[in-house]
Amino acid sequence: MILAVETSCDETAAALVTEDGEVRASVVASQADLHARYGGVVPEVASRRHLELVSPVVAETLERAGATLDDVDRVAVTQGPGLVGALLVGVSAAKALAWARCLPLVPVDHLEGHVCSLYLDGGVLEPPLLCLLASGGHTLLLLVEERGRSELLGTTLDDAAGEAFDKGARLLGLGYPGGAAIDRLARDGDRMAFSFPVARVPGLDFSFSGLKTALRYAVAGLSEQDLAQRRADLAASYQHAIVRALAGRVDDAVRETGLERVAVVGGVAANSALRAALTDATFAPLDYCTDNAAMIASAARYTPALPCPDYLDLDVYASRR
Ligand code: KG4
Ligand code: ZN
Repeated sequence: MILAVETSCDETAAALVTEDGEVRASVVASQADLHARYGGVVPEVASRRHLELVSPVVAETLERAGATLDDVDRVAVTQGPGLVGALLVGVSAAKALAWARCLPLVPVDHLEGHVCSLYLDGGVLEPPLLCLLASGGHTLLLLVEERGRSELLGTTLDDAAGEAFDKGARLLGLGYPGGAAIDRLARDGDRMAFSFPVARVPGLDFSFSGLKTALRYAVAGLSEQDLAQRRADLAASYQHAIVRALAGRVDDAVRETGLERVAVVGGVAANSALRAALTDATFAPLDYCTDNAAMIASAARYTPALPCPDYLDLDVYASRR
């Protein structure tokens, strides 16, 4: 059994997963409420909260699974990319848990974790496949050659897709994090009401910063009363532009690579309009789209473990490797 810890951003998460990818327990303590008043994640506040939450979240995970540390064969932890202070809390906790029992420790890449959310609870999708990873911090098109190994085909030149949702939500007065709020509001709106641009960048890359600016101008051009009336239309049109950009690039990549299997992972994979647009794609299960530790345990199955005590000086990393 693998015990995994994830603290890369503002979710403190732990999970217990079997070697076959069966999730015995997955606990996610979101700090979203704590950061909402600032309109985004405050790194130092996140680190301090992780420190308070990490032990109770691990204990709760073991309890829900009816297990103890004696049942754990290895410990996995997110090493990066993410907020350095936040990552350090998880890595320190994981080192302590592993070292206490002299268990191996598996350092997992957060983005590889998102991809491996596809292989949980009997997920049958097998590489080679094309994977769109769209989250708050990243937007990647990956050619997944085998479980645990992938090649980068394209990435965003500026904002991530989830960041575009969050910034758009802020402009519409919907609070943080905004992806799910836009998703909900857009259901009552007309996605053709406003015409927002889809950036044309070369290759298989993405760009979302112009879209955010277009929304800012659209909002500025409306009176307060009009804005209140047309908020749902704005949300639907804005979401439609993001979905078109993502789905269009997936189509381009399918044409270029000839790959038939397409998967979508990451927080934005929870978006209902994206799910409706990419009908042939396999989406990560809703519970495992946004950050969680089950996906980290899943990735640990395809990542080399460090034997005890070789991991005691393991460090974290902030940016994508
Ligand atoms: O994967 P994730 O939990 O964290 C990162 O690794 O960044 O993704 C969080 C992102 C946020 O930007 C959030 O607004 C977005 O996923 N998100 C959504 C939805 N649910 C979460 N975006 C669009 N529609 C949703 N339903
Ligand atoms: Zn993530």
